[in-house]
Amino acid sequence: MNELDLIELILRETSAYVKAKYAGRTRLRVQEKNGANDLLTEVDVAAQSQIVNRISKSFPTDTVIAEEEGLDQHPDTPPSRCWVIDPIDGTQNFLRGLFPAFAISIAFVRNGEISAAGIAMPVTQDLYLAERNCGATRNTQPLQVSPHGELGRARVEVDFSVPEDREATLESLGQVIHAAGQLRCEGSAAVALCAVAAAEAEAYVHVGLSPWDYAAGQLIVEEAGGTASRLDGSPLALFDGKEGILISNGAVHSALLGHLSAAREPAPAPE
Ligand code: IPD
Ligand code: CA
Ligand code: CA
Repeated sequence: MNELDLIELILRETSAYVKAKYAGRTRLRVQEKNGANDLLTEVDVAAQSQIVNRISKSFPTDTVIAEEEGLDQHPDTPPSRCWVIDPIDGTQNFLRGLFPAFAISIAFVRNGEISAAGIAMPVTQDLYLAERNCGATRNTQPLQVSPHGELGRARVEVDFSVPEDREATLESLGQVIHAAGQLRCEGSAAVALCAVAAAEAEAYVHVGLSPWDYAAGQLIVEEAGGTASRLDGSPLALFDGKEGILISNGAVHSALLGHLSAAREPAPAPE
């Protein structure tokens, strides 16, 4: 079984498990991770261990990087074979019953380059898959990003994240918020990135994400014809220690970069 087939198999199994748990979400054990706005449920932990165990059975020597259970260390140099996992992206939505806005995200990364990826949305059982140079699909149907390039008519997915990131978000995104035609905040990077890949939005921007939040979504958007970069336009590398990302249909990318860089320029000196 190749890596993409394994991703699909795992996502189908784990998605069924998470869907069943979603039905009984009010009875789950919930902990605060880094404060009241960063929650962890028993389902995040159990789903991650199901995924990790299944990968280890097929590829026992591969590196696994995942959000929970101490597997969240970024490597100094990208491992030759590594898996990047978010067992539930959008835990807040999962707990509050906001579906389908939470997802399971798995990427396979070879020497730092994402080469296969999948995202599953448990409630709808939608499955997004991509393999480098082979395109992206939703439920086997090919995906293509939107061709729209006019920012004033574009839908931009933003995310305000946790309170500690709000100031940076307002500073970086202030101009984007004024310039975009429509704004939307999903509360799940993976779900928002699938929307870009499926031409339901033109771009997604976030000031502080970890690799497991966007690795799979990045490849799915790129294989649907989109573009990914850091907020300064530099290439998006998973383990470079930076956190801001801009992932778009390509057509609105440079306009958005212009607004993001304008936000970083110092105000002109008074005359
Ligand atoms: C979060 C979601 C959210 C983003 C946060 C992430 P989690 O992931 O993707 O949209 O704003 O920065 O941490 O905690 O639900 O896996
Ligand atoms: Ca996440
Ligand atoms: Ca998570």
